[in-house]
Amino acid sequence: MQDLDKIVAEAAAAFDAVNDAAALEQAKARYLGKQGALTELLKGLGKLAPDARRDAGARINAAKDRIEAALAERRQALARTRLDARLAEESLDVTLPGRGLARGGLHPASRTLERIERLFRSIGFDVADGPEIETDFHNFTALNTPEDHPARSMHDTFYVKGDAVPPLLLRTHTSPIQIRYMQAHVARHKNSPTMPEIRIIAPGRVYRVDSDATHSPMFHQVEGLWIGEDVSFADLKGVLTDFLQKFYEDDTVRTRFRPSFFPFTEPSAEVDMTCVFCHGAGCRVCSQTGWLEVAGSGQVHPNVLRHCDVDPERYIGFAFGMGPDRMTMLRYGINDLRLFYEGDLRFLQQFI
Ligand code: DAH
Repeated sequence: MQDLDKIVAEAAAAFDAVNDAAALEQAKARYLGKQGALTELLKGLGKLAPDARRDAGARINAAKDRIEAALAERRQALARTRLDARLAEESLDVTLPGRGLARGGLHPASRTLERIERLFRSIGFDVADGPEIETDFHNFTALNTPEDHPARSMHDTFYVKGDAVPPLLLRTHTSPIQIRYMQAHVARHKNSPTMPEIRIIAPGRVYRVDSDATHSPMFHQVEGLWIGEDVSFADLKGVLTDFLQKFYEDDTVRTRFRPSFFPFTEPSAEVDMTCVFCHGAGCRVCSQTGWLEVAGSGQVHPNVLRHCDVDPERYIGFAFGMGPDRMTMLRYGINDLRLFYEGDLRFLQQFI
């Protein structure tokens, strides 16, 4: 019994000597565990006379309380040390300069497409989409493009390897979206007495075997399609003129139609606009003509309408196809198309 104080002192020293929680629990077992020093003493109480037993019991329990207090204190100290170490390790130097947020931006080609979509939506056009891997039917046949048309040759078109006959291809223009949209539109309204007007644009990537300063094997087009019972070239000209004036933020822009040929339109026309640099006076950009070619267009060929189950006797359609990449070059004064696809930040950062 007389060594209770010694046991308490030993226990406190043992607790102080350990440096981690697991070792502390082992040390605790040596004093308070089933075979611990104090437990052994408690077991011996039964042999004592009742008075001595009460007295010894009280002293042993007091010693146990002191050991438990020492244990709790050491536990806390270890926890504090652990926390301090973690805080030191994960310290945050609030005086360091911030990393800053990298500011991203849209590619100029995307900016132009978004701008075109916004302007056409504002006058009631929907924006349509279609697959970039197309069937021969949608890209050529339905667009009245005959078997022997040069566009169908391997020199112009990327064909996709596979079992499909005729082979699938990377669309060479956005015009197949006309076909897909008309077919879906006709199916959607097959039970109504009149088909609602179609007014869409369809921007997207197109592919051709072509590569130099003004041609890239992948480039962008924006298709337009307007079909109704009473639409005319004059409507088309009005919409395109208005669009071009807004796109280039120049109310003096004028347009003209020049006769042309496309298999899927008859009659067909090239759309020219007055040069945005010299306003028609003639300069280097417009090769001294005062005009810039901006789109192909025309009245949708009856064969194309028939492929989509649209009655050419009842409905009349107008289509156009624009090159938004050239429009981007004109709007920002970019002279080489290859800059678009090189990913050079010195070029791209100018558009953020
Ligand atoms: N698809 C034609 C091309 O890539 C462009 C075009 C011309 C589209 C006239 C049209 C159009 O919708 O009417 O060369």
